Amino acid sequence: MSYSSDDRARLGLRESATFDRATIAAIQRAADTGIYDIRGWGAKRPLPHFDDLLFLGASMSRYPLEGYRERCATDVVLGDRFAKHPLHLDIPVTIAGMSFGALSGPAKEALGRGASEVGTSTTTGDGGMTPEERGQSKYLVYQYLPSRYGMNPEDLRKADAIEIVLGQGAKPGGGGMLLGQKISERVAGMRTLPEGIDQRSACRHPDWTGPDDLTIKINELREITDWEKPIYVKVGASRTYYDVKLAVHAGADVVVVDGMQGGTAATQEVFIEHVGIPTLAAIPQAVQALQELGVHRKVQLIVSGGIRNGADVAKALALGADAVAIGTAALIALGDNHPRYAAEYEKLGSAAGFFDDFQDGRDPAGISTQDPELAARFDPIAGGHRLANYLRVLTMEAQTIARACGKSHVCHLEPDDLVAVSIEAAAMARIPLAGTDWIPGRNGGAW
Ligand SMILES: Cc1cc2nc3c(=O)[nH]c(=O)nc-3n(C[C@H](O)[C@H](O)[C@H](O)COP(=O)(O)O)c2cc1C
Repeated sequence: MSYSSDDRARLGLRESATFDRATIAAIQRAADTGIYDIRGWGAKRPLPHFDDLLFLGASMSRYPLEGYRERCATDVVLGDRFAKHPLHLDIPVTIAGMSFGALSGPAKEALGRGASEVGTSTTTGDGGMTPEERGQSKYLVYQYLPSRYGMNPEDLRKADAIEIVLGQGAKPGGGGMLLGQKISERVAGMRTLPEGIDQRSACRHPDWTGPDDLTIKINELREITDWEKPIYVKVGASRTYYDVKLAVHAGADVVVVDGMQGGTAATQEVFIEHVGIPTLAAIPQAVQALQELGVHRKVQLIVSGGIRNGADVAKALALGADAVAIGTAALIALGDNHPRYAAEYEKLGSAAGFFDDFQDGRDPAGISTQDPELAARFDPIAGGHRLANYLRVLTMEAQTIARACGKSHVCHLEPDDLVAVSIEAAAMARIPLAGTDWIPGRNGGAW
């Protein structure tokens, strides 16, 4: 018999805050199966995030810009430190690296179409570059990953920029996973792996033992690509201050910092929820490192991990990022986890909107699958338009906020435009608590 909450209250049954229902279910699942839980998405626990910051719109001491007559620009140049051909993007929102393997070929194509429609870049991922993606992407960033799955020197030359991945926010220090049901003949061929067998990506580059090896690798990649392509270095947020300094010393043109809310295709649940630091805490550390080296705005900073709307974009820029990258939100925009497929998600033991099933490969929306019948449900042209619409909305929202703060470029937003509504966010983002000039942890102006 199951009790209603009223019955439970009458009987004096109390839920445990420590052993809540989800914890009990996790213990029971572990006892039943003897294997750890793997899922997609990023950290689901509550964390200080962009919602804990607010903008100080202009009034008397600052004046706002008029939306119809006064321009607020959104373009950004990425990688002009050493590369002959930096990327000139129309908007400061880029598409993060997501692997062909985790995602279907048409889904990767749609990401390229959507990004190109609004003049921004998309990124390959573990598993290499597909011709569909290259063909539809005006600016394609090629990931150079610890696994080397799908790594091809010819593809390095076809890319517009190269991103050396050291880690991801969802799993700094760990590698990804791709379960056997997604290792189709094509995915296996590109990764030089057997078909249908679970795969675990390497957690570190096989030929490196420290930061000096990153310098050597950056130089090799520059030589192969004739010093044309910007070289990005991507890190999962943990010891961000030191990692950013090392990446700059090694010669990066762009540093990508991915916070712990950042999505993944598949990793151990325990990893996603317990390793790394929130995006909000990572940005000021990265900015401090760049400022101390005198390269803030010269080595560009791309931030990712939980970006959902134009306010998040504007807040990341105000904290000092030059651009942001989105993964999960881009997949939602394509149509993944849509309520239209609610009944089918339930049959998989999930539900529309929960996004736990990237790893299973049976996505009814045809996006995170390699099943040809499911993948055929997804229309890359319509999906690309949906993504482009979403990117336009993000940009317009960020512009609206920038104008309200009196800025003629979204990148002119600054920490001074922000206040925090929680002590945690104030301390992490190094922004004063609203209505005060108090930044917890600030020691007479120094950190
Ligand atoms: C389905 C999926 C696949 C991903 N694959 C990769 C990958 O191959 N390489 C990588 O560096 N990051 C990968 N990521 C992480 C993203 O590049 C990015 O860091 C993250 O999604 C940003 O956070 P957000 O999802 O909250 O926007 C993946 C993310 C998702 C959701």
